[in-house]
Amino acid sequence: MTDLSKLEADLVAAVAGAADLAALEAVRVAALGKSGSVSELLKTMGGLSPDERRERGPLINGLRDRITAALTVRKAELEEAALNTKLAAERVDLSLPAPPERRGRVHPTMQTLDEMIAIFADMGFGLAEGPDIEDDFHNFTALNFPPKHPAREMHDTFWLPEDANGERKLLRTHTSPVQIRVMQQASGKLPGWIATGQAPPIRVIVPGRVYRSDSDATHTPMFHQLEGLVIDRAIHMGHLKWTLDAFTRRFFESDAVVTRFRPHHFPFTEPSAEMDVQCDRSGGSVKIGEGSDWLEILGGGMVHPKVLANCGLDPDEWQGFAFGLGVDRLGMLKYGMPDLRDMFAADIRWLEHWGFSAFQAPNPATGLS
Ligand code: PHE
Repeated sequence: MTDLSKLEADLVAAVAGAADLAALEAVRVAALGKSGSVSELLKTMGGLSPDERRERGPLINGLRDRITAALTVRKAELEEAALNTKLAAERVDLSLPAPPERRGRVHPTMQTLDEMIAIFADMGFGLAEGPDIEDDFHNFTALNFPPKHPAREMHDTFWLPEDANGERKLLRTHTSPVQIRVMQQASGKLPGWIATGQAPPIRVIVPGRVYRSDSDATHTPMFHQLEGLVIDRAIHMGHLKWTLDAFTRRFFESDAVVTRFRPHHFPFTEPSAEMDVQCDRSGGSVKIGEGSDWLEILGGGMVHPKVLANCGLDPDEWQGFAFGLGVDRLGMLKYGMPDLRDMFAADIRWLEHWGFSAFQAPNPATGLS
């Protein structure tokens, strides 16, 4: 028996005799590892004369290939045996309690927004959306903020760098630019932009993200608003008040909620108002529907004739109201979150505490889930 066939017979026996995967791996290392017996043989090839190499080369390579193949076959056998042993030994115990499951939660802002949209949808409002990156015209000029007017400074705007046309776009500071886009489309001035575009009468809400350079317990650089716009021939302040009163009672799920309107100023509505809800702020938390404090929750008013005209609607024919609600702020009030900044800190523990199940049964009082 040559040295090679002896080595092969020994290795084949060792492979066959390996009782488990660890033993097989030891055989593999002893043969094909860095200084394994077969590897050492392969290393000797470099020192052989061409004639010797022609003779021994195929023998050594053949040995290596057969041992590799034998290892592979044995490995598969041992793995299967190990699996069979495991399957025979393990039983599923259906009486054990299920391991806790980590479920995703619905963010309070999205929950609040869903509730708001459901209420307005019930009142017959359609939905419109617009871009987060706006131009100066839609965010300010068309809304009757004259260029350089100090009212623009009420909005701490994030401006984008000048583009190739020398224009500076911005992150919209409110959802009101979508009023402009909806009315432009209704008047035919902006064909095809808004999917739900409709000639007057218009009745839409516009949920979305807005941005202002501001940060404290009640302000974050990004927050959510819900805009409302109603345009028809004889819409007046009474319709605005009724709509917002009805909304507020339904949102807070209580007929005891008291609201008040205060005169205010917005360049794009005339007259303008802010609406407050009555609340109790003693004891650190805010309770709606009791107490003697007031909390501002929205701005609104009658759409300014100049704004209608800027959008191509004849102010002698059409009139209507608009309002803008702070979504996150309403969610904080309803569900008692103390700090607005936490809403956007992306802290999973916060979300697990304040978040909502995605599978809620509808509330029998409101029909909302
Ligand atoms: N856009 C205003 C704001 O962000 C709110 C508003 C909307 C006021 C519509 C009047 C009408 O402060």
